[in-house]
Parts: sequence; C-alpha cells; structure tokens
Amino acid sequence: MTRWRSGQCVYVKAYADREEALERVHADPGNAKGGVTSPNVWLAAYQAHAADYASHLDPTLAGATQRLAELAEASPGVRLLDLATGAGAVARAAAGGGASVVGVDLSPAMLALARELSPAIDFSVADAHSLPFDDAAFDVVTCGLTVSHFEDRQRALGEVLRVLRAGGWLVASTWGHGGGQTPAFRTVLDTFRRYRAAEKGYALDEETWLAAESGETVLREAGFERVSSETHVFTGRFADGDRALRWTLAWPTGAARLVRLHCRALSSFFTDARRALATCDLAWRFAFYTRQRPP
Ligand SMILES: C[S@@+](CC[C@H](N)C(=O)[O-])C[C@H]1O[C@@H](n2cnc3c(N)ncnc32)[C@H](O)[C@@H]1O
Repeated sequence: MTRWRSGQCVYVKAYADREEALERVHADPGNAKGGVTSPNVWLAAYQAHAADYASHLDPTLAGATQRLAELAEASPGVRLLDLATGAGAVARAAAGGGASVVGVDLSPAMLALARELSPAIDFSVADAHSLPFDDAAFDVVTCGLTVSHFEDRQRALGEVLRVLRAGGWLVASTWGHGGGQTPAFRTVLDTFRRYRAAEKGYALDEETWLAAESGETVLREAGFERVSSETHVFTGRFADGDRALRWTLAWPTGAARLVRLHCRALSSFFTDARRALATCDLAWRFAFYTRQRPP
C-alpha cells in the first residue's frame, strides 16, 4: 500500500503490508462470530508498535501489572514463566519480588524492548501453543492481557498446564467490561463513523474473558481446578491526545477502519480526530483478573 502519507500512516504500515493475511481472516467463517484472532496480523502490529506499547500503555498498566505479580506470589525460590511477556512489565514486577523469571513472546520487537529494559531477565521467542520447556518446569505462569490472543486457546492452556508443576498456578489478566473502551478510543471511533469507516474487520477473543463466568468455564474445560477470579478497576491516562490517537490506530481494529478511508479524506480525518481529542478525557479504565490453581 503506498497511498498513505508518511507520518500519518506509519501506524498502519505493517498492517497494510499484510492485506493478504487480512483477506484470509475475513474469509474465515469463524470471524463472523468476532471471536477469532489472526496471529499474523496481530504479530505484525506488535512488531510495528512495540515502542508505543512500552511508552504509552505500560505506564497506564502499572497498577494491574503489580497486582498480577502479587497474585503470583513471586518471591525468592519461585520459578515463574511470564507468558506473552511483551515488553516484560509483568516479568520485571515478578523479578522485583525475587522470583526466578523467564519471559517468552512471539514478537522479537517486543522482546528487544524487554531485554533493553531488563537485561538480567531471560527472554526468548516462543509460541504459547508450543512452549520449549520441560513438563513441570515452573511453579507459576503469569499471562498479562493475552489469553484473548491465542488462536487455539485449549492448546495454549494445555501447554501452560504441562509446564506447571502439580499445584502450580496460572495467574492471568484480561480486560474487564469497558476495558479499552476509553473516552479517547470512543472519540476516534466516532470520528471514523462520521467518515463512514466504522467496520473494524475482526477482533481478538475478548468476549470470552469479559465475564468471569465464561472465562472460568474455559479454564475448567482446559483442565484447571480451583479456578477463581477477582475484578479490579485500574485507571491510567494517556499523556496527550496525539498519543491516544496513535495508540488507537496502532492496532488492527483501528487500522482496519483507517484503510477504509479514501486517501483524500485522511488529512481531514486526522485534523478532526485531533481536534476532538483535544477536549477529551484521556483516562482509561480496566481490568479483570483471574487466578487459577490446579491441584
Ligand atoms: C497485550 S500484549 C501483553 C504484554 C504483556 N503481557 C503485558 O501485560 O503488558 C500481548 C503480547 O502477547 C504476545 N503474543 C500474542 N500471541 C502470542 C503467542 N501465541 N505466544 C506468545 N506470545 C504471544 C504479543 O506478541 C504481545 O507481546
């Protein structure tokens, strides 16, 4: 795709380069339910926006990250795998508690940041669906905001069970109701709607995890016992409207709308969105936490 003006479209470049993958996502009947993720498209987004994730999102997640590490009881002697570690925020919090931490992720760009921020932690590329660890290698697995990303969640959760020792725990966080639906996000969406570009194309499987009951059912079906959950609301804030805009457009759901705009409308779309964000509440609230303890 070359019709994007550089600067305005840097957010969607990786996405646009993968239009073919997007076509396949649309062609997949599972996507009609809105419950299927496309690993290729989301991986491309994480590759392209790793730095934005670390600088824009991570600071707003500090409370949630800390809570995850507390629930994991990350203390000296605990062997902890931070699955889908991203830029390593949860791994860092767990290592701060004294646990012996390994972090894995699909995205080399996210891991490069993780290594830069925490050179002492062991980070490597691995897919949750096929973990390169022995059975019972860990006491705890943490997974921040990623269970919705797994293409085959039963297989990924099966891998978590396999690498946990008997009695080990999975501690995972997901968005709660309204999670990610910030006033800033809605403002950008409203602007898209005015430009008749509302279609998001496809989504991650957030729905399953929004309600504690359905998330717990999935975990029990995967073989976890003594599943419990708790809900917290955390509030973060984007530093400014421009960062909120970049953040909203960075991800496939935002980019999918952006590609529906005619190139001639792009400039006024950005002007309108920035103007609307200038007076918008830049806070965002989330999340929902789940804790599981196999026997
Ligand atoms: C929303 S971010 C969460 C990052 C971090 N856990 C946190 O709490 O900030 C999702 C991360 O999951 C990774 N990811 C997605 N699917 C994955 C998979 N199948 N295996 C490993 N990592 C995956 C992405 O590359 C991305 O870094």
